[in-house]
Amino acid sequence: MERTFAIIKPDAFAAGSAGKIIARIYEEGFKIVGLKKLYMSKVEAEGFYYVHKERPFFGELTDFMSSGPCVVMALEADNAIAKWRDLMGATNPAEAAEGTLRREFGSSIGENATHGSDAPETAAFELSYFFNGLELL
Ligand code: TYD
Repeated sequence: MERTFAIIKPDAFAAGSAGKIIARIYEEGFKIVGLKKLYMSKVEAEGFYYVHKERPFFGELTDFMSSGPCVVMALEADNAIAKWRDLMGATNPAEAAEGTLRREFGSSIGENATHGSDAPETAAFELSYFFNGLELL
């Protein structure tokens, strides 16, 4: 079993899509081992996305992530990291495959409904950024 870190981003949360996304997570066979709603500050968003700090979209991305509440989750499954990225689909919803979360709930490359860790090292960092051990059951 592997764990990954996932976010229902502010666009999807504001659209009322969190319930539908969580239903898909269960249907696809993930176990939710941690879940909370939070309203990220700009500084917290900058810390979370620090690997992107030199990218041209960093300001817009961290403004968006701190623009409203989101849901952060720890998901467990066999190959959870790849499995969750497959379920999310491509970064740009316009390029995401039919049936993926970003295709269904995303509206642009910036406002793309969900986040998922891309490797074991990033999953470890991201899980510990938002959860302590006692919150992961
Ligand atoms: P990235 O790590 O490339 O994508 P993914 O979320 O699929 O792992 O980028 C992180 C986030 O940054 C992405 O989900 C949305 C935002 N972003 C933009 O706003 N514009 C862009 O051109 C790119 C590549 C990403």
